[in-house]
Amino acid sequence: MRLESKVSIITGAGQGIGQATALKFAKEGAKVAVCDINMEKVAETVRLLKEMGGEAIGFKVDVTDKDSIAAMIQGVMAKWGRIDTLVNNAGIVQDAQFKKMSEDQFDRVIDVNLKGVYNCTKAVVDIMLQQNSGVILNASSIVGIYGNFGQTNYAATKFGVIGMVKTWARELGRKGIRANAICPGFVETPILATMPEKVVRMMEDRVPMGRLARPEEIANTYAWLASDEASYINGAVIEVSGGVTI
Ligand SMILES: NC(=O)c1ccc[n+]([C@@H]2O[C@H](COP(=O)([O-])OP(=O)(O)OC[C@H]3O[C@@H](n4cnc5c(N)ncnc54)[C@H](O)[C@@H]3O)[C@@H](O)[C@H]2O)c1
Repeated sequence: MRLESKVSIITGAGQGIGQATALKFAKEGAKVAVCDINMEKVAETVRLLKEMGGEAIGFKVDVTDKDSIAAMIQGVMAKWGRIDTLVNNAGIVQDAQFKKMSEDQFDRVIDVNLKGVYNCTKAVVDIMLQQNSGVILNASSIVGIYGNFGQTNYAATKFGVIGMVKTWARELGRKGIRANAICPGFVETPILATMPEKVVRMMEDRVPMGRLARPEEIANTYAWLASDEASYINGAVIEVSGGVTI
């Protein structure tokens, strides 16, 4: 198993890509801290992991709330004594054309998608530095590279988390810590339900593979990046989009 005993924290693991990532990590032998703002969904993911024989603990974590993150880190350290991987997956959208976008919409998406990544990584970095090892993975998006209609706030955060991993790759690489980002295209998850059906179909038509991604296809990439097979991958931005941008 590629992630045997690796202690992994996954934010936004209550559903969608985060849940698929938790399942994949457990399948590969990782010990998984399932974190989400929605406790019912945390419990559901933990149940699924335990059902398949995985080791998991659930935490109610709001990535904008440093106290909830600190409590989770304390819980993980008390139980497993180390942190090998942080997957900064939690993310939201609040779309509007720029001229109609409110400051609240802008600030909320920045708080969760950008500051949330800062908050969680800040909470694990000293532990990883002490260990002289660790992997930090950020959820970006092709929207972070190319922009998207109605997503000024979201695109800014997804470009921002790429800047973070490139900086961390430079700052932390010598300390045995790798940092990378994944840019999914459009993935079949509940986040898509917030977008107009017409837009989703248009995106699907543009993908050379003629379909959206399955959450597991993003999860597989996270698992590979977290594994020792990716031991020389640092500061990379990996597109998993079925070729939609070519
Ligand atoms: N689905 C896509 O097409 C797509 C494409 C590119 C990138 N992404 C990115 O991948 C990540 C996961 O996307 P998804 O489609 O699985 O989303 P999703 O909406 O299905 O799941 C997101 C999870 O994050 C949780 N969450 C929201 N705010 C939180 C907070 N403040 N603290 C902790 N948890 C919080 C939600 O409760 C939910 O369980 C996001 O960062 C998203 O931007 C998704």
